[in-house]
This record gives sequence, C-alpha cells and structure tokens, in this order.
Amino acid sequence: MQKILVKDLAHHVGKEITLYGWLYNKRSSGKLKFLMLRDGSGIVQCVYFKGNVSGKVFEDADRIGQESSIEVTGKVKEEQRSPGGFEIDATNLKIISEAHNYPITPKEHGIEFLMDHRHLWLRSSKQTAILKVRARIVKAIRDFFDNNGFTLADTPILTPSACEGTSTLFSTDYFDLGQVYLTQSGQLYAEANAMALGKVYNFGPTFRAEKSKTRRHLTEFWMVEPEVAFADLNDNMELAEQFLEYVVQTILKDCEKELNTLERDTTLLQNVKVPLPRISYDEAVNILKEKGIDFEWGKDFGGGDETIISNQFDRPVMVHRYPAEIKAFYMKRDPENEKLALALDVLAPEGYGEIIGGSQREDNLDLLIDRIKKHNLPLEHFEWYLDLRKYGSVPHSGFGLGLERTVSWICGLDHIRETIPFPRMIYRKTP
Ligand code: 4AD
Ligand code: MG
Repeated sequence: MQKILVKDLAHHVGKEITLYGWLYNKRSSGKLKFLMLRDGSGIVQCVYFKGNVSGKVFEDADRIGQESSIEVTGKVKEEQRSPGGFEIDATNLKIISEAHNYPITPKEHGIEFLMDHRHLWLRSSKQTAILKVRARIVKAIRDFFDNNGFTLADTPILTPSACEGTSTLFSTDYFDLGQVYLTQSGQLYAEANAMALGKVYNFGPTFRAEKSKTRRHLTEFWMVEPEVAFADLNDNMELAEQFLEYVVQTILKDCEKELNTLERDTTLLQNVKVPLPRISYDEAVNILKEKGIDFEWGKDFGGGDETIISNQFDRPVMVHRYPAEIKAFYMKRDPENEKLALALDVLAPEGYGEIIGGSQREDNLDLLIDRIKKHNLPLEHFEWYLDLRKYGSVPHSGFGLGLERTVSWICGLDHIRETIPFPRMIYRKTP
C-alpha cells in the first residue's frame, strides 16, 4: 500500500492508497459516513459506505471525534464537487489515537480563546494557509537576495548596545560582563559585513519591548536586512522596489490556493511592480493637510496617518527624506537640507502601513561621533562601529523588511498575531 499525501492525490486516481492524518470534520447520511481527513498538505473527503466495510470500521467512523489521528485506506476518485477535486472511496480505517471533545469546533470562538489554544488553532485551514504563505515568502526573500549577488551573513541576537533607540530594549544578565540586550536590528553588524562582502543580508528574529498594543506590533518578529556598500538612497529605493515586486509576484504565482482559502482579493497585489511611487516626507505631510488632518511638520506618522497617505496609491509607496530628529542616529543627513535624514519607509496599501524602514548611512566619522553623543548612546560600545568609518568608509545603504507585517499584508489579515505560529505581544507570552 502506498503512503501518500493529499496534495498528490491527482497522481493516484483509480489506485488504492493509504493516507495518514487527522479527522477535520465529519457528517453522515444513512449508510454513508463522510470523514474529512487533513494531513497538513490538504484536506480530502473519505466516504465510508456501510456495505463496503466491516461493521467495526463503520462503527469507528461513527464514533471518533474531531482531531482523532487516523489511517485511511481506499481508492482515489475524481470528484468535481469536492473542494480539492478528489474523494476517497474508503475501504479501511485504523485509529491511531482517538480524540474527543476537541476544544476548537467549527463554531465561532472568541479571539482570546483561540489565542489561548494557539497550539491547536494552528490546525485550522486558515491558519495552515497563512503559515504556508509565510514559508513561501521566506523562501522568496532568500531566493531574491541569493540570486542577486548578496551573501547571507548572520548577525548576533545578544548585543551590548541599542540600534533603534533605548526605549524598546529587552535586557538580560550576561555572566560577569554586565547586561546584554536582545537585538532590535542586525543593521550595525550588517554594515561591518557589507564592508567585508559588498552586498549582504541577515534574516532572523528581532526583539522590541514595544509598549504598543496594535495590530501591527509584535515584541518578537523576523526581519530581513540587506546592506549594500557603494549604494546611496536612490540605489536603496531601487533595491526595495525590485525586491517587493519579486516577493509579491512570486506569492501570487505560487500561493493561489492559499490566497483563495484566505479569500484574499489580489487586485492591488497584482500592481506591485517596478516602479513604485516615491514621495518625500514633505509631500506626505501635504497629503495629510489636504485631507484635513492637523499634522505638524517634524512629527512621525502614526498608523492612521500612514493609512491616509498610502490610500492615495494603488501600490506600496516609498516615502523618503524624513526629519532627522525623529530618525535613528546612524542615518545620513541630506546634503541639500541638514534637517532631513536620507531615510526611506515603504508603506503598504490597504491600511497595512510601514513594512520597510531603511536609509543611507552616515559615513563620516566626526558626524557619526557627534550623533552618538547627541543620542546619549555610550560611545565606548560603538568603537568597533566607528572603525568602519576610519578604515575605508564608503557610502552605503540598506533597509529592514518586517516579515510578519509583510505576511499580514499579502494575506490580507486583520491582525499581525496570525502571521507567526506563536506570537509574542505585550500582553501575551503563552502558549
Ligand atoms: O523601521 P525599523 O525600526 O528599521 C530598522 O530596524 C533598521 N535598522 C532596519 C535597517 O535599515 N536595516 O524596522 C524595520 C521594519 C519595519 O518597517 C517593520 O516592518 C518591522 O521592521 N517592525 C516590526 N514588525 C512587527 N512588530 C514590531 N514591533 C516591529 N517593529 C519594526
Ligand atoms: Mg521604522
């Protein structure tokens, strides 16, 4: 007997096969029992006809509860009316582990209940679709950089200093060496890697002790960060738009089934093609003013502001040249206007907001020392970083894309908590 996956049923039509999985749902009608089997690759209906199977099999099929683990043997039949296009004409059923009273039933549950049962909620078809899209996005990200001359160079998670401001640091004791922090961004190390390898990226977990309880914030999230030597802000924008086009178009091509399960309207995603619109911070402020928002120049955009700005476009918009005051210490100033940093944020449409943050980096040693002091950061922790400006400093740029915000946008989700198997948020550390 061949052990096969639901996703491969098309290759086995007319043959007797065995499937291993869990009971997703079931119904019966007289002499027929319909068991929906899910195996992680898909869901298929297995039909038990009383006249075709032993009395024990028919009784078992009747008794077992949702999420019992089972082995089903039967013949693969084409069935246009079935969701996947196939059905199993079942001849045998073996129970691997019988389950009863599974807490998550097809009825509606509140979000807190589902989050408390996240370890089980993951089994539902919407959640598995999201996780499949996430995995495909990760691969598309890696493929893009690997195929465009970038070297993967990982950066540390335990770090001695802040990268993105001191207010969102998680700290822990580090033997006799004092405190270390969970990384907020691998960028500073990526800059060192770029001076060694030219074009690099790091991709891994990132931590922010975010006090914000929003649908866009996690305390633990994944970020991919490319960093490129001899690249200015324009090169950075070109890289960002090519990268986004590749990722989104790849998902549209490869994840049609999952996006259908999620009932994602992909009209706007189809537009994610080079060139993406580019506007300055000043122009973005003007958009807000035209919409009647009382926005003061110099402030950072809130989630609501980002939504208004991005709603003016039918694809992601790149916003550049922010007030230096609200941006990180390492950003290079605009030579045309000292008040501005050569920063870049990419805002996704449909209210998803910032998915990319980046900049051209300050490459002048004295200016950088000055900034570190002005930001009240301990200079001694940055000695190694300053070396990059002493020994062969070059113009360089990079950005970070938040994986979970990207998954949320591409899947069209209401909240970031569903984009990662076990989300960490201000009010949740379990399961
Ligand atoms: O804009 P951020 O803070 O930029 C940096 O960390 C730079 N050092 C990156 C670089 O230039 N190499 O964060 C980058 C992205 C954001 O645009 C957002 O997508 C995501 O990381 N992000 C978060 N995602 C989920 N939850 C949070 N709390 C996030 N904070 C940032
Ligand atoms: Mg940012």
